[in-house]
Amino acid sequence: MKVKIVFTLIQVLLGMSVLAQAEKQQTAMSTYVSALMKKMTTEEKIGQLNLPAVGFDVTGPVVSQGVDEKIRKGLVGGVFNTFTPIAVRKLQEMAVTRTRLKIPLLFGYDVIHGHRTIFPIPLGLSASWDTALIRKTAQAAAAEASADGLNWTFSPMVDIARDPRWGRVSEGAGEDPFLGAQVAKAMVRGYQGDNTYKDAHSILACVKHFALYGAAEAGRDYNTVDMSRVRMFNEYLPPYKAAIDAGVATVMSSFNEVDGVPASANRWLMTDLLRKRWGFKGFVVTDYTAINEMMAHGLGDGKEVARRAMKAPVEMDMVGELYLAHLPALVKEGKVTMTELDNACRLILEAKYKLGLFQDPYKYVSEERNEKEMMSGDKLMLAREAAIKSMVLLKNKGNILPLNAEKKIAFIGPLVKNKRDVIGSWSGAGDYKQAISVWEALEKRVTAAPIYYAKGCNLVDDTTLRNKLNPHGAMLEADSLSPEALIREAVEAAEKSDIVVVFLGEPFGMSGEAASRSEIGLLPNQKGLLVALKKTAKPIVLVLMNGRPLTLSWEDEHMDAILETWYGGTMTGPAISDVLFGDANPSGKLTMTFPRNTGQIPIYYNHKNTGRPFDAAQKYTSKYLDVSNEPLYPFGHGLGYSPFTYSGISLSSKSIQGASTITATVTVTNSGKYKGEETVQLYIKDVIGTVTRPVKELKGFQKVLLAAGESRKLSFSIGQDDLRFYNGELQLVAEPGAFKLFIGGSSEQIREASFVLQ
Ligand code: BGC
Repeated sequence: MKVKIVFTLIQVLLGMSVLAQAEKQQTAMSTYVSALMKKMTTEEKIGQLNLPAVGFDVTGPVVSQGVDEKIRKGLVGGVFNTFTPIAVRKLQEMAVTRTRLKIPLLFGYDVIHGHRTIFPIPLGLSASWDTALIRKTAQAAAAEASADGLNWTFSPMVDIARDPRWGRVSEGAGEDPFLGAQVAKAMVRGYQGDNTYKDAHSILACVKHFALYGAAEAGRDYNTVDMSRVRMFNEYLPPYKAAIDAGVATVMSSFNEVDGVPASANRWLMTDLLRKRWGFKGFVVTDYTAINEMMAHGLGDGKEVARRAMKAPVEMDMVGELYLAHLPALVKEGKVTMTELDNACRLILEAKYKLGLFQDPYKYVSEERNEKEMMSGDKLMLAREAAIKSMVLLKNKGNILPLNAEKKIAFIGPLVKNKRDVIGSWSGAGDYKQAISVWEALEKRVTAAPIYYAKGCNLVDDTTLRNKLNPHGAMLEADSLSPEALIREAVEAAEKSDIVVVFLGEPFGMSGEAASRSEIGLLPNQKGLLVALKKTAKPIVLVLMNGRPLTLSWEDEHMDAILETWYGGTMTGPAISDVLFGDANPSGKLTMTFPRNTGQIPIYYNHKNTGRPFDAAQKYTSKYLDVSNEPLYPFGHGLGYSPFTYSGISLSSKSIQGASTITATVTVTNSGKYKGEETVQLYIKDVIGTVTRPVKELKGFQKVLLAAGESRKLSFSIGQDDLRFYNGELQLVAEPGAFKLFIGGSSEQIREASFVLQ
């Protein structure tokens, strides 16, 4: 007992000393920044709010001009798209030796799924459901980025996405707020470490795009968003909130409107919600020219939108330079107060202070570290592991996979030898030439029987589409052989083989920003190849590379196996070869629903029941005449080479009272021949609510590795906090009453129990 008291006392004292330390640091920072700001002119303060782009890779129609001169005049707070120690040193030197106040610059970049070593696209990573792994990828990305002169990444993107027509679903963690929140947290921690930036390996993260960018109408990028607050709070905001709670340093405002006001001018969003309700203490950067775009949104001229943005406020103006152009006059006229300008400037200077740039502006500029970090062996191993764990086996009829290396196999398709596409979009600093293609890996792997290759088709035949994608790095060209001749070659290769593995999907530019599609199936020429191969009557494995859920009804019916590999990154080839030949057992689970056809969109597992839920026997129920309500592959779905069986769900009690918790237990068995990992998912349904509640919501998951034949009992603890949601008054409450609980290997394959909250 005494020992316990002493221990608690020590803990309290330690806690107090950590707090005191933090307070001391905060005071030191305030004093430093206040002293600096006293010396600053209004123009220099405005300069801190300016973020031009210098380098390649622009994502909007405007390109920054005359940046060197602006830096020298103290009119730049940070730059983005510049990296490598040499380039960064040059600009930083300009800022700290040739300006009046020698204030260092921030260096930002879109480090989205790896920097030089490219990991699978974020949607793929999320399919691993492995937050420790995801955190490691962010940490590795930060290590490379920071060794390349960068101190700020525009990641994570945490926009909940339920519409796969939207190309940017590839950049996020899918449709679920609970999983999205876990991933957001993991990524912020990966990038920012313990938020002290003690060493030069951690960088500032930027959660984006605040807010609701993923809910663009009709899945068309940059389109209008409109939704109820109840939906916002329960379904779309949790991942942003999780990032804030994890201490994310910066936030990016989204292009879209929220409640009729574009995010960058939205005071409710930026002040009431983000700072007052959530307590965010960092700064907000706009998305690319988002302030200027408010003119097209219809909020007024350049001066007016700059004023509105300062009132929201958003502190940093990405590329648009409307703050630079209009704030001097707005401040003079008293339309923006000096206090508002000071607050914005202070937050940006504080970020620089926290990074340690005032002490050492070159902290992130190290040629030596650069040599050491880039694409190091441990990162490549991590990339291979991440690519393997991201893959989702959608179908595997008759256990045709893993492949038998004794058999003759034809590897067909325009993605077999491809390197450009496998690193996906938003892989700016990644060099596709360093990616390992599937073919390169296969040549090393298979020995027992011959393997054959045929291209089979062009990735894209449609010249209009090619012409849209090629100016943005797609490198799509028509083969010298005609489409018919390509198919003929493929059929010949198939005919001399025992089994056919076809690699199809989207070129990388068909997902990502400004890459919405109105139909999300395989392109007609690719489908034509599959139809021709099907006629050979050989078993076919379809391996997909793409950045969004696709409509695969025909493929599901006619292919023997389907393996979704997304864009696997630098180590795509070895990872796919590992999985195809059974050196690794696929374990990914979908984090976005795959619809049967485009007309079902938006389709997501955690939908509401409606007053007329589907009933086949009734005409007047919620359904389509031409397609079922069910998706093709549900959220959480994913097979492995061993099936997992679930048995004996039991609850420690039938009710939760006050702060008590109950434990749900289930036994999971690996009933196959291969060691494998299963993601066990816990869903809860709140049966009665003051507002309508989803048919089920993910509330927990655990990954478990089981040897062939092994069983394991798994427990989930459930308390009131897990049952909370935002009611009509936007209060976070748990309402007493009946609940259902489901555990299983997907959102549809579940075992059920019930309990009551008293
Ligand atoms: C995108 C952001 C990105 C920014 C900077 C914008 O077009 O929406 O996600 O961070 O460009 O490249």
